[in-house]
Amino acid sequence: MSTIETVLNETRVFPPSTEFAKHANLPNIAAYKTLCAQAEDDYLGFWGKQADENILWHKPFTHVLDEGTPPFFKWFDDGELNVSYNCLDKHLSTQPDKTAIIFEADDGSVTRSSYRDLHQRVCQFANGLKSLNIKKGDCVVIYMPMRIEAVVAMQACARIGAIHSVVFGGFSAKSLHERIHDAGAVAVITADEQVRGGKNNPLKITVDNAIKMGGTESVRSIIVYQRSGNDVPFNPTRDIWWHELVNGKASDCEPEWVDAEHPLFTLYTSGSTGKPKGVQHSSAGYLLGTIVSMKWVFDYQSDDVFWCTADVGWITGHSYVTYGPLAMGATQVIFEGIPTYPDAGRFWKIIQNHKVTTFYTAPTAIRSLIKLGHDLPSKYDLSSLRLLGSVGEPINPEAWMWYYQKVGQSRCPIVDTWWQTETGSHMIAPAPGAVPLKPGSCTFPLPGIFAAIVDEAGQDVENGKGGFLVIKRPFPSLARTLWGDSERFKKTYFPEDVGQGKYYLAGDSANCDADGYFWIMGRIDDVLNVSGHRLGTMEIESALVANPLVAEAAVVGKPHEVNGESIVAFVVLKDELPVGDAATTMVDELRRWVAKEIGPIAKPEEIRFGENLPKTRSGKIMRRLLRTLANNEEITQDISTLENPAILEQLKLPTR
Ligand code: PRX
Repeated sequence: MSTIETVLNETRVFPPSTEFAKHANLPNIAAYKTLCAQAEDDYLGFWGKQADENILWHKPFTHVLDEGTPPFFKWFDDGELNVSYNCLDKHLSTQPDKTAIIFEADDGSVTRSSYRDLHQRVCQFANGLKSLNIKKGDCVVIYMPMRIEAVVAMQACARIGAIHSVVFGGFSAKSLHERIHDAGAVAVITADEQVRGGKNNPLKITVDNAIKMGGTESVRSIIVYQRSGNDVPFNPTRDIWWHELVNGKASDCEPEWVDAEHPLFTLYTSGSTGKPKGVQHSSAGYLLGTIVSMKWVFDYQSDDVFWCTADVGWITGHSYVTYGPLAMGATQVIFEGIPTYPDAGRFWKIIQNHKVTTFYTAPTAIRSLIKLGHDLPSKYDLSSLRLLGSVGEPINPEAWMWYYQKVGQSRCPIVDTWWQTETGSHMIAPAPGAVPLKPGSCTFPLPGIFAAIVDEAGQDVENGKGGFLVIKRPFPSLARTLWGDSERFKKTYFPEDVGQGKYYLAGDSANCDADGYFWIMGRIDDVLNVSGHRLGTMEIESALVANPLVAEAAVVGKPHEVNGESIVAFVVLKDELPVGDAATTMVDELRRWVAKEIGPIAKPEEIRFGENLPKTRSGKIMRRLLRTLANNEEITQDISTLENPAILEQLKLPTR
């Protein structure tokens, strides 16, 4: 295999401060290495001990891992537990009055829910679900605004052993329909409307439209939370208001004890081809992954105010809103709105007002906030912060530095966490009291995670060379299968050609530097081949974004007669869209810039400017659309999950 070339050359290193390390759960590199060594020496003993110490078992497990028929591994198989019990009841005797959730609504009003209150709400709602004859193993689709109720709905499903499938509230009726249908859901939990950025968006109408598309006969009930109070269509034989469902229900509900391997949820995620994949997670293994990462990566302390900005519609909102923080007994912020309403200081204001200590967000949010208010963070008191986190895509070193200096005031470590919907919890991320940081690197695998970089035959590549990111041994929080399609699970994630079906293939390319730090280069299908050199798109994007005039950039490949592929860059400038001569000058300037930053090989052949990039509602750039545009082809793909379809017109024509 011609290995993927790495061209990023980041040399800055930020060791943990003595102050941070002093109180950290893993206070030095030796502590981290000891855990890694324990996992290396006795893999099953290591994970068995973690499961023993971190989970309350109704019936203890007696064996740790059942390899069964790989890759369908079973962990802690004969143990019994309830995930909701582990997130709520567990804290009732020790800290019932501690605030579990500080909820800030779109309009700024704040509601607090203690562990006692949250437990009660979950129990009442769980009893409501039972009264609708929803049972263990039934699938329930949740299509909710980002509110306490979304967490209540998920926890209530977990409590009765129903399998939830949360669909992000921004998805269209078509996407929702596909997911309801594929899951064979018996109920949908939704709201009349959601309110974000001062605007009301329909949810119930979208659910109705999805149901009307047919093939959804499995749905018996639609539970509607009244958020806005505006009129929505209501079918009394099928629909029921949330408040009527919980009215008079007992505030206690005996949890349904389930096997460790009982599916906790499915969550749909897009693959590079075909219909979305229903990624199916287990109960115990998944929960364990969220707990150990809360300790090791988020360095959880009992007085933390934790804020993960992700919506519960994504895996990040599952693991680091609904499950991880509650399992730890943390106080966390949940925010209904958007970062730019009423102005671009909203995030900073929330951190100030609620004295957030741990802030976890995505590079795309960071970059847009840089664009909208480079110096805004300094107007707020962010002194409560002690740790920052990043997730979802590689964070380019420039954004990292801004986040570090402007938000963290050069005081807070940044945990760049690499993981996926399929892995359930962090895989490669720094233990912030132990690991010196390098901007743009997610650093080292967590203890018990055997990540490596291999070539297409599954052989390790030497440091400095790029390759496929794999995880060589099974781990508890890995997805168990794809809903209704175990064959696709096996083929996609445990392919025969890379590691003979034994390695989990993440679908990302990465490299390790001379110090063993992992650098994610992008998805495998985003790797370009220019003149026989394979380049990660992210590295070119990072170079572009490093230019002081550039806010955001995405790079795709386009077939090129001589070079194999040429590079097309789509660029958003910090200032307004350039036209005419200004555009031509800017193109020249940026091409020169990239040539200087990386080398002439990485110079984009073409640069197009836009006011934005086509993104999914979770903020991921839709590269396949950019590829179509770069090739000047007609768009025939489904663009229903696109946040800003109008941008496609603007990016259609090469900038002249
Ligand atoms: O390409 C990697 C990128 O996001 C992919 C997983 O996406 P998803 O399943 O939607 O989960 C996102 C939240 C965990 C990965 O295959 N990715 C995620 N985190 C990082 C990242 N790329 C680089 N650095 C990260 N920290």
